This record gives sequence, structure tokens and C-alpha cells, in this order.
Amino acid sequence: MLILGLETSCDETAATVLDADERGARVRADIVSSQADFFAAYGGVVPELASRNHAARLLPVVRQALACAEVVYADLDAVAATYGPGLTGALLVGLNFGKALAWGLGVPFVGVNHLAAHLQAPLLAEGAPQPPFVGLLVSGGHTALYAVTEAADQPGLLEFEPLGETVDDAVGEAYDKIGRLLGVDYPAGPTLDRWAAEYAEEHGGDCAGPVEEFTRPMPTGLDFSFAGLKTAAARRIIELEASGELDDARRRALAAAFQAAAVETLGEKALAACARTGLRSLIVGGGVAANSGLRAYLGRRAAEEGVRAFFAPLRLCTDNAVMIAARGRRLIEAGLRHDLDLEAVACLELGAEG
Ligand code: KG4
Ligand code: ZN
Repeated sequence: MLILGLETSCDETAATVLDADERGARVRADIVSSQADFFAAYGGVVPELASRNHAARLLPVVRQALACAEVVYADLDAVAATYGPGLTGALLVGLNFGKALAWGLGVPFVGVNHLAAHLQAPLLAEGAPQPPFVGLLVSGGHTALYAVTEAADQPGLLEFEPLGETVDDAVGEAYDKIGRLLGVDYPAGPTLDRWAAEYAEEHGGDCAGPVEEFTRPMPTGLDFSFAGLKTAAARRIIELEASGELDDARRRALAAAFQAAAVETLGEKALAACARTGLRSLIVGGGVAANSGLRAYLGRRAAEEGVRAFFAPLRLCTDNAVMIAARGRRLIEAGLRHDLDLEAVACLELGAEG
């Protein structure tokens, strides 16, 4: 089955051609046109401009994906597009294109939940664990933990039971806000990650202390909270700026201290979820899953706890269409079809595609 996957929920215009059969799935094309450079100067995504950019870029991106996969429209067996959560105007571009194309070709169409797709991404890598496992979702807009199982009658179709989520900011959002205060363009996560690694290298491999230190936010249960950490880091940056002490070395120290606190919270909550559910595998997806500190911390701590931590491949952590096609494939195999009246849903819970 050849599936065209489309993703336009935020600021990446992406299309993929996935070739899937009972032996597995092969990515024949993976095209991502990021608007990150466009929005760097704005300090974040401007929804109306993102929609217009998607409208201008989607057709060229789809054509490039087909050319790369060496297929034509008539070869496609199905179309899958993100229908939520995300920016409504941005979602509508990919969703309406996908619905119209599938209708024109007379092939099945499914709308895909972007969050489910992020947690499908790790399973595209070789050696991925089999469900059940705990899923840690860490993206720009979401930070949450789920117990992930496989549908009883449908191998490969993941189902999600919420275990905990952030009560305020998402971790990616906190990275971007702190980055902006440190003078880093949106999205700031990758730069802060690099600064933290540089600081660790200068200080014997450890991100924590001695120059800066933040309290680890540990609300009770399996929920997260990043607003307090964000505010503490912001206050410290403003203080250092006012006293003229905010030089590059101090920026690296702040990035390292922020990352150490964020990563420890994410890692320990995820391991607590494993302990609570008795599940011994953990998968991690979403943009912040690319974070080198989180990968190193969980790699070490999970091993100590006898848990296997498995991350999405780096290329599939941030927004892409491969994960959309991969989730879409499972929904189509399960017999799900969406009609032309499927609407974009800005706030969509995980597991609500049916
Ligand atoms: O999953 P994603 O591409 O988009 C959403 O669905 O929200 O995640 C984007 C987020 C941004 O906040 C970005 O700063 C963050 O992921 N991010 C990172 C890293 N790479 C991307 N945060 C920390 N470290 C990274 N290496
Ligand atoms: Zn995303």
C-alpha cells in the first residue's frame, strides 16, 4: 500500500510517500519544508502567516515527494493528513488538500491525530520495543505520559491511556521562551541543547551547577509543571542582564541549569510511570525527544531502573509527514475512513481519531 502523508499543523509543510505491507514500511520520500527561518525574526509562529506559507508550499512539497518516490498520483492507494491538534488555519491547508486529492483519486482518506503520530515515530526505527509500553510525548505544545497498548484485534494500532500531563506549559514552550530571553531565535531548543552540552564539556560532563542551579519541578503524581522553572530562569536572566553579568559563558551555564532541571523532571516522571504501570519499556517522541541531555539522562537512569528507553530517530522527532503516514496506515488497516466533512480540530486529545 502506497500512502501519501501530509503534515501542516504548525510551521512545517511536510509530505511523505510510505510503502507499507505486512513485512514492514519503507519511506520512499520524506520532504519537510520548515518555516523556522521565516519565523526566527518573529520570535514564534504567526498563525495567519503559517497558513499562507503552507498554501504556497504544499503543492511543490507534494510534487517533490512524488518525484522522489518515483510515483505519480494514480499510484497512491491512500491519503493521510493531520487534522489536529494545531493551528486551525494551518491544519486546514493540509487537511483540505488531502481530502480533495483522495476524493479525486477515489482512494481512502484518514485524518491523523498529530500526537498519536509523534508516539508512532519511535516504532519506525529498527529494534523498537513491542507494545505495551509507557509513551512520553515531549513537543512544543504538549508534555504528557501515556500507557500505550496495541488494539486487541488490530496489530500495530496503538491505543493510549493518559497517565499525566503538564498542568501549565509544555517543555518545548519553556525552552523557546527561555531561549528568546537569552537572545536565541525560535525554535530555541536545539541551540540551548548545544549550549548545555558545551557547558557540560567545560565542567567535567555535568550540566548541573556549579554556576547556576534551578529547583527541579516535581508536582505530585505523574503530572508535569514547567511554569515555575520558566519563571525562575527568566527572573535570573533579567537579574544578570541588569547587573551586566549576562555574557556567553553565563548564557551557557543558564542553558545547562535549565536543561538539567527540565530533563531530570521528564526522566524521573517517565520512570515513575513505568514503576506505577509495571511496564518495562518506554518510548519517547516529539521535538524535545531530540534533546541530547534527555537522551543521555534517560539512557543512564532507565538502565539503572531496568527499563528500556527508546527514542524516535532524530529526523522523526520534530514535525514530519512520515509519522503521519505511519499512523494513517494503521488506521486504514483497521478500516477507518474519514469523509469530506472531517474538520480541523485545534485542541484534540490523544486517541480521538475514531
Ligand atoms: O514536536 P515539534 O516539532 O512540534 C510540535 O508538535 O509542537 O516540537 C517543537 C519543539 C520546539 O519547542 C523546539 O524548541 C523543541 O521542540 N526542540 C528541542 C530540541 N529540538 C527541538 N528542545 C530541546 N532540545 C532539542 N534538541
Ligand atoms: Zn509536533
